[in-house]
Amino acid sequence: MHISGSARRWMRAALSAAAVVTLAFAAAPSRAHGAPKTPPRVLKMAVGVCGVCHGVTGNSINPMFPRLAAQHADYLEHELKAFRAHTRADPYAVAYMWGIAGGLSNASIDALAKYFAAQAAGPGLPHAAAWVARGNAIYHDGIPAQGVPACAACHGPQGLGSAAFPRLAGQHAEYLLKQLQSFHSKMRKTPIMDGIASSLHRREMRAVADYLASLP
Ligand code: HEC
Ligand code: HEC
Repeated sequence: MHISGSARRWMRAALSAAAVVTLAFAAAPSRAHGAPKTPPRVLKMAVGVCGVCHGVTGNSINPMFPRLAAQHADYLEHELKAFRAHTRADPYAVAYMWGIAGGLSNASIDALAKYFAAQAAGPGLPHAAAWVARGNAIYHDGIPAQGVPACAACHGPQGLGSAAFPRLAGQHAEYLLKQLQSFHSKMRKTPIMDGIASSLHRREMRAVADYLASLP
């Protein structure tokens, strides 16, 4: 597995602080009932590598790193393959995830996706009420005058997603905003979201991101 310079620098700083927590969790990772057993080699990677940035149970603290807990396994797998194939290409994806995903086999990707999908989601993160209210309206009704569809139609009424659409509830607002901008600029190329994001103004992106982050 190749890890780029910026990823390595971050990990060096974080590892010393995280080591104690990591070891404690490695012994007993929280796992939803009936979830598949993670092979030991993959568990070690999930906790000791991915966990440094994304949190051992996928509930990252730093908004630069998306939360992976309770995300759908199919989506996680799809994104790891997109990093590996270099089709998801915003600067953070390039700096942090290309090297890491480049060395992963399909079997490891599958097991890592299942590990994080099986972790319990953390609580929502509070945001200013005015932005949350505006975001709530956009999320559920869209913005018909700008041709923006209701996000809920695909991502679900509570932002929980489905096998085909990612969960957005409880994700860091800064991360969501950055992704909407990456769709807009086509650094992250997807047929559906690029069009939707290009019809949103920055303030609308921020509102909907704040709303989603505040959901449990
Ligand atoms: C050095 C820090 C770092 C490490 C280690 C790391 N990641 Fe990431 N990861 C990131 C960053 C930063 C992003 C956000 C990229 C972006 O903004 O597009 C990300 C994004 C992701 C995403 C996309 C999530 C989404 O909601 O679309 C997945 C999936 C992911 N990482 C899985 C993993 C797995 C699995 C591992 C371990 C094999 C791992 N990451 C290790 C920093 C890291
Ligand atoms: C027609 C279905 C559809 C609608 C409507 C839709 N999305 Fe999406 N969205 C998707 C799909 C599919 C993806 C996964 C893209 C990929 O393959 O990376 C996605 C991904 C995302 C992501 C990236 C999540 C992550 O973890 O990186 C965000 C953020 C997002 N959508 C926000 C929105 C918002 C906000 C709206 C409403 C303004 C919206 N979406 C409406 C289908 C949809």
